Amino acid sequence: MSITYQKSNNLFKLTTANTLYAFELSHGTLVHRYYGQKRGATVPTSADVKGRVVSFSPYRDEDDKAFSFDTLPLEYSYFGSGDFRPTALRIKNANGDSVTSFSYVSHKIRRGRVDLSPIPAGRADDKTQTLDITLRDHVSGCELHLYYTVFYDCDVISRYAAITNHSGGDVVVEKWMSLCLDLPGEDYELISLGGRHCRERTVYQRTPIGRGNLSVASRRGATSHQMNPFMAVCAKDANEDRGEVYGFNLVWSGSFLGECESDQMHTTRIQLGLGSENFTYRLRDGETVYAPEAIMTYSPAGLGNMSRHFHDFINRHIVPEKAHEQRPVVLNSWEAFYFNINEDIMVDFAAAAADCGMDMVIMDDGWFGARINDKAGLGDWFVNRNRFPDGLRPFVERVKATGVKFGIWVEPEMVNPDSNLYRAHPDWVISCRGRERSLSRSQMVLDMSNPAVIDYLKASFTETFADVPIDYFKWDMNRQISEPGSPTLAPEDQGSLEYRYMLGVYSLFDWFTKQYPDAMIENCSGGGGRYDPAMMYFTSQIWTSDNTSARDRVLIQYSSQLAYPASVMSCHVSNPKGDLRELDLKYKVAVGGILGYEFNVLNTPDEIKDEIRRQVARYRTFDRLIQFGTHYRLSSPYETGISAYYYRLDGEILLSAILTDGKAVIGKKKALKKLAVRTADKDAVYRDAISGVTYTGAQLRAGIEIGEFAPDATGYDAKLWHFQKI
Ligand code: DGJ
Repeated sequence: MSITYQKSNNLFKLTTANTLYAFELSHGTLVHRYYGQKRGATVPTSADVKGRVVSFSPYRDEDDKAFSFDTLPLEYSYFGSGDFRPTALRIKNANGDSVTSFSYVSHKIRRGRVDLSPIPAGRADDKTQTLDITLRDHVSGCELHLYYTVFYDCDVISRYAAITNHSGGDVVVEKWMSLCLDLPGEDYELISLGGRHCRERTVYQRTPIGRGNLSVASRRGATSHQMNPFMAVCAKDANEDRGEVYGFNLVWSGSFLGECESDQMHTTRIQLGLGSENFTYRLRDGETVYAPEAIMTYSPAGLGNMSRHFHDFINRHIVPEKAHEQRPVVLNSWEAFYFNINEDIMVDFAAAAADCGMDMVIMDDGWFGARINDKAGLGDWFVNRNRFPDGLRPFVERVKATGVKFGIWVEPEMVNPDSNLYRAHPDWVISCRGRERSLSRSQMVLDMSNPAVIDYLKASFTETFADVPIDYFKWDMNRQISEPGSPTLAPEDQGSLEYRYMLGVYSLFDWFTKQYPDAMIENCSGGGGRYDPAMMYFTSQIWTSDNTSARDRVLIQYSSQLAYPASVMSCHVSNPKGDLRELDLKYKVAVGGILGYEFNVLNTPDEIKDEIRRQVARYRTFDRLIQFGTHYRLSSPYETGISAYYYRLDGEILLSAILTDGKAVIGKKKALKKLAVRTADKDAVYRDAISGVTYTGAQLRAGIEIGEFAPDATGYDAKLWHFQKI
């Protein structure tokens, strides 16, 4: 059993392969007791921990003043009941106050997990178990379920919740966090990944946590380019290979809040969830609402180990079945032609993809409605007959006759004001009555909380894609939510628009996966604007960034892998201008993830095409390692100016070292001379399939010389080794 309850000391214990999480039921309250290594753990209980009476901290019992919600490490916290730290749950009662205090009623330990659909959540396997704790606020009668699901082998435990209103009237959930964790100590640092469009996750921040709230958040209705929901809370001395690290993430694609704060008891509270700024939910009597799943992991051995837990979790419990198939090497039309596509161009493009040994051609934006630029047509999901006179099906048959598969771009959540859809249904966009509707990329966001919008989209796609053999969808999303209001929701429900929007989006994703079961979906939000575990649940991979410069991608890809595996990281070689050296650099950076190409191969010199053929053939010799291998970082481009890492699977190792120009270096550059493949099998002999040189496993473990780089004019160079056991 990975979850147990010991009646003798009221302890709940949740164990994973290497970690233990424990809390105690005391006075009807869940008191946090331990999160860390399983081996050698001692879990204190209230019998061991002497309570402290702290001035100004409220208590309920004159004879037990030390029992205060303000000073105990809690599993969850409720606004207004004497816990003055950041609150996990605030509910406005029917009488207008926002005070609640939930006490334990019962618990169940069950196999598998609680279904949150349409909200995505980690998929259960044979070992998955869930602890379901029921609590009640005895004044309002509202019921709270706190769920803990254990993903044993990945060392991941998840936290999520449900509230059912039994108060007899409406209540309003005003702040809601999925996870609340009170860790002992206050000497932690928070690592978070900020950024912007085209520089996603490159603001790699490491900030001391102290008194006062330190938060990461998105208020954009999307997880966003600007701030990712991933957080690592680590010991001050933690580095890639050493030190304690707690990792967190949220299986959600909308606005979120993560917060950290240390307190007078020298404990640190960490929370992650929907927050309050972009979320309130009017809950009717008898209604239940769910908070998305937050995941957490503990690593006693640095950031690398934490990342591997998350990679493993996402690969095994998040991505769809389709993601386990070999991924196609795609050729995408966007950077080749932008909107200037038509049937003949795309068929020639497909033939060129086949000629270069690629597997699939992707027809990006510009194939539908009046979409000849970004000013018109979004929402009108019928084929543009000027560009595809015979319709989609005969065109796709021509594409397939060239020998490649076919993928197509969609952006279901959006509408241009200049579209038939908007003209017919101006009330289907997110907007607030009487207020101007902001544009972004000349588009508006459809109100996905409105079932009529979802029905329209399903009907349009059903008709347009009927009998069209589509192998891949690229699902884009190119603006975020302003004026968050719904023309159809009641005034009391407007605060839940963004939450309901996500439910609508997830239900449409679910419909796509069922309607087109053979098609793979790639997620995109102007690149990596929704690079989160919830999107990864539906989509096998994500277009990592609209920035395809190898130089910028080194940083973007390096930090993305702190939280997410290479298997979801879609990377394209773009725009080589007849320069083989550049092509080599772009390729070596792109094979940090799932390889594709995105430029006009029709205008490309033969020598470039020959090189691409060789690249694709080479990639096929090691793509399994990238998709399924275990990832080890050796050197951070942020610290050393060299990004070095390897993937290991069975008897093979793919090692990469990329010299950057060092502009983004944080702190001092350290000289890096050797790369140590520490998990090589020491008794084995390996041959590098690229250079033909042989190494013993012991040599690889001790470290191989990087050798001289030959930087180009901008200071970049890259090296690749593919070791195979012989
Ligand atoms: C943004 C995406 O990130 C690009 O790859 C491309 O699909 C464009 N949208 C198309 O409008």
